[in-house]
Order: sequence, then structure tokens, then C-alpha cells
Amino acid sequence: MLPTRSAPRQAAWNAKPPHLAFEAFEGLAPEAESAAVPVAAQALAEQSVFDEITQGLLQQPATISPKFFYDQLGSELFESITRLPEYYPTRTEHAVMQQHAAEIAAAVGQGRTLIELGAGNCEKARALCRTLAPACFVGVDISADFLQGAVARMREEFPHMDVRAVGADMTRGVTLPANLPRTGRLVFYPGSSIGNFDPPHALMLLEQMRELVDGEGEPGADGGLLIGIDLPKEVEVLEAAYDDAAGVTAAFNLNVLTHVNRLIGSNFDPAQWRHLAFFNTLHSRIEMHLQAMSPLQVRWPGGGVRDFAAGECIHTENSYKYTLPAFTDLLARAGFSRARAWTDPRDWFAVVHAQP
Ligand SMILES: C[S@@+](CC[C@H](N)C(=O)[O-])C[C@H]1O[C@@H](n2cnc3c(N)ncnc32)[C@H](O)[C@@H]1O
Repeated sequence: MLPTRSAPRQAAWNAKPPHLAFEAFEGLAPEAESAAVPVAAQALAEQSVFDEITQGLLQQPATISPKFFYDQLGSELFESITRLPEYYPTRTEHAVMQQHAAEIAAAVGQGRTLIELGAGNCEKARALCRTLAPACFVGVDISADFLQGAVARMREEFPHMDVRAVGADMTRGVTLPANLPRTGRLVFYPGSSIGNFDPPHALMLLEQMRELVDGEGEPGADGGLLIGIDLPKEVEVLEAAYDDAAGVTAAFNLNVLTHVNRLIGSNFDPAQWRHLAFFNTLHSRIEMHLQAMSPLQVRWPGGGVRDFAAGECIHTENSYKYTLPAFTDLLARAGFSRARAWTDPRDWFAVVHAQP
């Protein structure tokens, strides 16, 4: 069925709290990470991915977490989206960071340990490194191969900087390199990715980020968070950004089905689905869905099956749009007592520096 614009909806991908279990284990050298994961642990991880996806598919309405957009092709499609005329967030955030680079650098400080969550192609971190000169950069991303390429380019540009890659799902726990300094950390979370979590889970994630920059209780930790927030604006502008004329966002949304087929062995045919994106005013969020164009059945190993009626949807993404006061309040509840924001002249996007 077509989702109603105002129906309250609890996204299944937020059913478990996000979990930034940083430094729970000994860190591994980035090159050794995937090879060194013990077979049993890998099987467990695969089982938990299988369980998470199939539980979402069996929900009413069905859901797939947006984190499963990002296989290699998904990451490349997202990079193409950022260059579309309709997709204002990336270029607006970049412009805010460029225009206020000196003030941001003064607020954040030099020589930090820069930890980017959901680093993607690391383009924004590269720009930041030119003004901040951090001592160390750690990129964390679920799309591990894509991240390795981005980090290699980072090492070329900054040969004297300690650059690390951590391929991990940050909602399931991240193992950061064990020898990272506990003081002077800057967590960088751009792209308005915090908007993919509903507010209670965004709060939990922010709390975990605050613990991380607090040096886990280390006195004089002097850490901070630099985070990008997409602000509310005209519905037409928002909806066009998630449903572009060239159909790149549609291809990105549909690619999740191919990725899911690979992850759980299901038999989705992307040609039987279409992309939907709209603004849900009640929840101040863009929603993306995939809609079945005819009655169909999806199967996966172990006897799993889900029937979809014509018009029925799978909910694949939320992107919450916060006002600055609402987001500053969320930060304060997460233990960030100081916050300073920079925006563009149209007030479309904010970059916020927050400290405990
Ligand atoms: C919207 S893109 C933003 C990329 C980049 N930071 C930017 O601002 O352009 C979201 C990024 O987060 C990554 N990501 C999504 N869910 C994740 C998760 N649960 N754990 C780690 N990375 C994740 C994706 O692979 C993707 O690179």
C-alpha cells in the first residue's frame, strides 16, 4: 500500500540501539582487518545480518535499513547523487565549511585525532585536513572496499599523517585502533547522516559520540564533535533532492534489493519495484520507499517468504530535518553543553561544533 504521509512509523532499523563500542577489542592494522576476522566471528556477523534483514522484511510494513544501500555500487551511486543539481546537501555543507573554515579551525583546534563516521569518499575530511592539520585520521564506514580506496587517496595527499581505515557497521560496534590518543579527539559526522536515525536513537548515538570525545572519563580530554545537519526547507526542494530527474536516487534505492539478494540469498527482482520519496510533515522527515508494481512473492533460504500486494511498500530510509534549536536541544540532552553553528545564507544546512 502507498504509505500515508502522516502515519506514525517506527523504523525497524532503529529497533536496536546504535552501538559505538569503540575500543572494546584490540585494534587491528587496517590492512589486516578483514583477513584477521576469525571464521566463527565472521559467520556470526553474517548470521546477524541475515536475521536483521529478514526480520525487517517480515515486518508490517516491510523495512530494509538504509545502511544496506552501501555496497561498492551503492557507494558509487551515492557519490553521483552528491553531484546532482537537485542534491543540495553536499555542496551546501561543503560551502559552509569553506566559507567558515577559519572560524571552524579556531573552534576545533589543530593537531587533533580526527575520527570520521560514515566517511564514504572522505572528500569532506580531506578539505578539513587542509585547514586542521590533524595528527591522525580514522575513517569508519560499512562500505569497507570503497573506504579503502578513499583512504589510499588520503594517504597520497597527506603522506605525513597517520591515516587509518576501519570497515565496520557503527550501529553494531566499532573497533578503533587501540593506540588512539584519548585526548584531543574530534568526531566528524557530516552529510546529515544523523537524520537517518529516529530522534531517540539519534540521542543514543550522540551520547556514545560524547563518551568517545570525553576520552571515556580521561581528565582534560578536550574533545569535540563536528556534525552536519540538514535544516527544514520548502517541500519541493526536499523532495527533488531525493527524487532527481535523472533517476540516480531511484537507482540507488533499487540497488538495495540487489545487495540484499547477495547478503541473504533472496530473489528480489529490482525491475518489479519503483522508487518513492516524499516529505512526511508530521515527522519532519523525507521517507524513501520501494513500491511493488504488481503482486509478487520474495523468497530466501531457510523457507523465508514474503508476499507483497501491488502497491505495497518497503520502507528503506528516513532523513529527519531538524531545526537548529531542536538539534541543539538534542545535543544538550546527549551531554554536549556547548555548541556553535555555522549556516549558509539560505539557512539550508548547518555545521555544528559541540563540546561536552
Ligand atoms: C550519506 S553517506 C555520507 C558520506 C560522507 N560522509 C558525506 O558526507 O558525503 C553515508 C555514509 O555512511 C556510511 N554508513 C551508512 N550506515 C553505516 C553504518 N551503520 N556504519 C558505518 N558506516 C555507515 C555509508 O557507507 C556512507 O558512506
